[in-house]
Amino acid sequence: MKILKVYQVYFSPSETTKKVVNEIAKAFKDYPTEEIDLTRYENRQNCYCFTETDLVIVGAPAYAGRIPAPEADALSRFKGLNTPVVLVATYGNKALDDTMMELYKIMTRQEFIPVAAGIFPCQHTFLPELAQGRPDEKDLDIIQTFGRRLRDRLRIAVSYSLRKLEIPGSFPYEKPPMGVFPFQVETSEYCIYCMLCADVCPMQVISHDNPFSIDHTSCIRCGSCLRICPAQAKSFTEGPFTALQEILRDYVDERQEPWYMIC
Ligand SMILES: Cc1cc2nc3c(=O)[nH]c(=O)nc-3n(C[C@H](O)[C@H](O)[C@H](O)COP(=O)(O)O)c2cc1C
Repeated sequence: MKILKVYQVYFSPSETTKKVVNEIAKAFKDYPTEEIDLTRYENRQNCYCFTETDLVIVGAPAYAGRIPAPEADALSRFKGLNTPVVLVATYGNKALDDTMMELYKIMTRQEFIPVAAGIFPCQHTFLPELAQGRPDEKDLDIIQTFGRRLRDRLRIAVSYSLRKLEIPGSFPYEKPPMGVFPFQVETSEYCIYCMLCADVCPMQVISHDNPFSIDHTSCIRCGSCLRICPAQAKSFTEGPFTALQEILRDYVDERQEPWYMIC
């Protein structure tokens, strides 16, 4: 089966998932490629259709053991046609739970054929010391090897469902969809009204007229606004957020390793 175009698809507020997907796609640099950044609200409003000569590399971070809801919604509107897909899940070195299973279920329901899957620990959004700096050099080596092996495998593939992928996770899902976190985004008096937070917010829940006005019910706590703010005026509610960071600290010393499988 001949691949004519490679798509890189991801939802990646702190850009580690994007980095992993980009790194895999480097093995396909001789092919025309297109990036679909589902972090951007406007990109999630589009309808995307693919054929069997496309290869889609799709990345999702674990959000409480599931795919971020906005990404799950957007992917559920993708339309494949026996389209080969590479499933990529990232997580903050704590637990992936049902993230990869959910990605697998959504993509197969939309008529994509999983040809490979990879799981990669990446720096945790909520605690930089957790998987700090990952994907690091060692991870990138593994990710590049995955990309090259995948490209070589696809070059000689005549059909795509040769071997079943071992997808970790449970179905029906053990993890419920992500609930509301006990902390929310706060804005301090250091705010300089640059509106970068409103521009970057994947959920468009920060008012462009007033960055103090946030729809906390629809906010997914992705941390994009904290990351972009040049005045460090955004933070998560201190007490409950510090309590979560304390729980996450237990996972700092145990380095989890990447995993991948190619059909
Ligand atoms: C709202 C939220 C929930 C998360 N839940 C988990 C989780 O259940 N398990 C885990 O190991 N990491 C979790 N993480 C960490 C992210 O999966 C990890 O940092 C990932 O690399 C972020 O991807 P990105 O850089 O592409 O945004 C969570 C992060 C956020 C913001």
